[in-house]
Amino acid sequence: MTEWIDAAREGSLAPGEHRVIAIDGTEVALFNIDGDYFAIQDACSHDGTEIASGQLAGCEIVCPRHGARFCLKTGKVLSPPAYEDIATYPVRVSAGRIEIGTEPEN
Ligand code: FES
Repeated sequence: MTEWIDAAREGSLAPGEHRVIAIDGTEVALFNIDGDYFAIQDACSHDGTEIASGQLAGCEIVCPRHGARFCLKTGKVLSPPAYEDIATYPVRVSAGRIEIGTEPEN
């Protein structure tokens, strides 16, 4: 059953910003993209490096190491050198807090 982890106060993450938190030993990056929140595993599927510091392009993120692109909404890989998707996590806003579900969506 999904548990919900308190990740941030609503409004504390400006559009384009992110925050990384640990969920059950996994680094998960929470993004604010134009007021919508998305959470992905903070590990590139190419070689496992952190990805949250990568450049954003709309709802896409570019891995800072070798440039693979991923969709923040779905975790789908969009360009090589990565070929596998990355995990996404459910996000909700409850009582003024942004919460991330502990069970990956994919
Ligand atoms: S580590 Fe992300 S593309 Fe190589």
